[in-house]
Amino acid sequence: MTATRPQPRKGVLQIDAYVPGKSSAPGVAKVFKLSSNETPLGPSPKAIAAYNTAGKHLEDYPDGAASDLRAAIGRAFGLDPDRIVCGAGSDDLLNLLARAYLADGDEAIHTTHGFLVYPIATLGTGATPVVAPEKNFTADVDEILQRVTPKTKMVFLANPNNPTGTYIPFDEVKRLHKGLPPHVLLVIDAAYAEYVRRNDYEAGIELAATSENVVMTRTFSKIHGLAALRLGWMFGPPHVIDAINRIRGPFNTNAPAIAAGIAAIEDTAHQERSREHNTKWLGWLTEEIGKLGLPVTPSVANFILIHFGDQKRAADANAFLMKRGLILRQVGAYKLPTALRMSVGTEEANRLVVQALAEFLGKAA
Ligand SMILES: Cc1ncc(COP(=O)(O)O)c(C=O)c1O
Repeated sequence: MTATRPQPRKGVLQIDAYVPGKSSAPGVAKVFKLSSNETPLGPSPKAIAAYNTAGKHLEDYPDGAASDLRAAIGRAFGLDPDRIVCGAGSDDLLNLLARAYLADGDEAIHTTHGFLVYPIATLGTGATPVVAPEKNFTADVDEILQRVTPKTKMVFLANPNNPTGTYIPFDEVKRLHKGLPPHVLLVIDAAYAEYVRRNDYEAGIELAATSENVVMTRTFSKIHGLAALRLGWMFGPPHVIDAINRIRGPFNTNAPAIAAGIAAIEDTAHQERSREHNTKWLGWLTEEIGKLGLPVTPSVANFILIHFGDQKRAADANAFLMKRGLILRQVGAYKLPTALRMSVGTEEANRLVVQALAEFLGKAA
């Protein structure tokens, strides 16, 4: 039968639209937004200055190839800029990868608590998301490999993952890659790589540099503090870069974002300050919240997952914190309805959350 009105592609209406973290608490004057894994230190002052300068020339189109930014990223990481593509956040690049490599009838694997953009991007192409169970809130290579079928075209791995904060070591990523057929694209999403301080971790550069079927995506939204500007980048084999360059928006990164991104990536001292702040407070929060009797999943990123045991208790805790202007993230959409995710905040915010949780649990001093 002919449809009486335009119909979206198969899969589109199966998508649960992404719901971002809340940014306001009704009736509360001072809020602490700890719901979107932004950095409490903000961007480098040099990035803000570069953004302001670029803002004086808004009439000009940006350099659609983001050549200067790719060159700066190349210098920072020792990479060939020709193997880098920039995008409007790494979300843009994840969607472009799905659009380029998935079609009706294909399958793309992600893990149970994997970042929500993966199923959204997959369904948008008409392909089917396949969920691989995690163990201890951590991706499990065997579970992923067991789900590879002749229809599999892509595997999304967030390493570390959001919202769990867990990671798998480089040896495991290599084992995953080794187990995949050569035509399956392994997308390593390393949005939080800069925060990880583990000797057995590798962000994805090595595999993306040396294989034909691995790409790594990165973002300026987290440690660089430029989430508002929407800027991300991807490193991969030349044939994948070529495919993405053919389908990306011709100006998918804007001039102020490019300018700020260059300044941010060159300000390694600011990055180090952010990393140190995170390491200190990630450890402190994990310990203090643990002492209150709430299990916290060990995280290597800039957020923690706090477990409340049941859904009502998690919702009550969320409401209790919200009333005090402490905005955390409910993660039911990530199949974690009994937990809340908290981004590492300023010292003030971190202390207030621990204090409020103690009060919520009736354990306040
Ligand atoms: C795992 C992961 N990947 C990608 C992104 C998207 O980042 P961007 O702001 O670059 O689109 C996020 C943001 O929360 C994330 O948690």
